Amino acid sequence: MTADLFDDQSPERMAQPMAPGAMLLHGFALDMQASLLAAFEEVIAQAPLRHLVTPGGYTMSVAMTNCGALGWVSDRRGYRYQETDPLSGQPWPQMPDAWRELAVRAATEAGYADFKPDACLVNSYQPGAKLSLHQDRDEADMAAPIVSVSLGLPATFLFGTERRADKPQRYRLLSGDVVVWGGASRLAYHGIAQLPDGGHALTARRRINLTFRKAV
Ligand code: SIN
Ligand code: FE2
Repeated sequence: MTADLFDDQSPERMAQPMAPGAMLLHGFALDMQASLLAAFEEVIAQAPLRHLVTPGGYTMSVAMTNCGALGWVSDRRGYRYQETDPLSGQPWPQMPDAWRELAVRAATEAGYADFKPDACLVNSYQPGAKLSLHQDRDEADMAAPIVSVSLGLPATFLFGTERRADKPQRYRLLSGDVVVWGGASRLAYHGIAQLPDGGHALTARRRINLTFRKAV
């Protein structure tokens, strides 16, 4: 291996195939972290983070909000996308242009041209929070991928197959990493293992995740 090859494909920027249709883009958003987080503060000022209740009556440990034309919500009636924030009755904040452009660029890099996200779920994890294995299946168009951007504290991403019983693979996600899954992996079960305690220069004791979808 030559030094040049190493420079072009440094470990920080490596694209790691995870499964057919799924890819981990290490460090893809590294140079945008500060601006992504500045926009995050603006989004949560308009639509505050909140702990949603599942249809089964559990309060989720991950705090969530949304931006974009549609937002994902859960309550005792079920999971769905809706155009307004149930807390305010107002439309969700606009998806920041820089977020949308990043998501489209990452999707393209992973082989999904023409991604048109209309929903961004914003997840905030504090130490101890976790997201159980689930499928993203509330979207109408399964041809579009999911694009997931990690910021702040590192986390362990669990990524399985379409069968819940299959043991998921574990990937460490660092601030600036982007995961894209679609195609044969679009309905893969995934989740986040309980977040260990720690500190991060940009987010303190918190992990922020931006999940871009095409909901309709
Ligand atoms: C999700 O599945 O909605 C979020 C995954 C993550 O936090 O990385
Ligand atoms: Fe998900």
